[in-house]
Amino acid sequence: MNAVQTSPAAAHTMPLSHLRRTSRPPRPAQRIVLTGFMGSGKSTIGPLLAAQLGWHFIDLDHEIERRTSLSVPELFAQRGEAAFRKEETAALAALLGSANTVIALGGGAPEILTNRLLLEQTPATVVVHLAAPFATLAARCTQQAADPAATSRPLFADPIAAQARFASRQPLYRRLAHHSIETANLSPAQAATAIAAAVAARLARA
Ligand code: S3P
Repeated sequence: MNAVQTSPAAAHTMPLSHLRRTSRPPRPAQRIVLTGFMGSGKSTIGPLLAAQLGWHFIDLDHEIERRTSLSVPELFAQRGEAAFRKEETAALAALLGSANTVIALGGGAPEILTNRLLLEQTPATVVVHLAAPFATLAARCTQQAADPAATSRPLFADPIAAQARFASRQPLYRRLAHHSIETANLSPAQAATAIAAAVAARLARA
């Protein structure tokens, strides 16, 4: 051990500069959590990032659907947004136990204080915000809504209300994230590579 060995009595009289803090070894990231508004590419970029790292990928919305046996639109229609948020928190708490995993959140998860605390307090968890202007996100959501295979988004049904949610969520996304990546001019593969590089650089600095 490099830390200065000293008795408690001697430590009392020594200047603090003589004591070296024993720093904890950096803890490698065990999970990367992708956050951002609807259409930011979390569910597209997430699997590419997981493949690059040789990790698992889990989409929080899919986990909610698995746990409730309802699709997200069915859950909103049958039980309302508040019930959806409770299921979302329960699913997130369960998923944060997984290692070597990329997790894509739903766009509204950071609105809930419990979710933010879970993300902040789970060790070895790196949160990455996928950022893009509202116009870009709206165009992507509109395009995806035309695809019958894509899950529809109950909260994008009213674009004016969606824009208000976008504005109110920006500070939450930014405060929660360790990294923010602008995705408007990146392909999903480029975004995945940029995230992997940012997380690796973070670990190298730790
Ligand atoms: C929501 C975003 C959706 C889904 C649900 C609510 C939101 O996920 O969780 O419809 O509040 O922004 P995506 O961000 O993956 O579309």
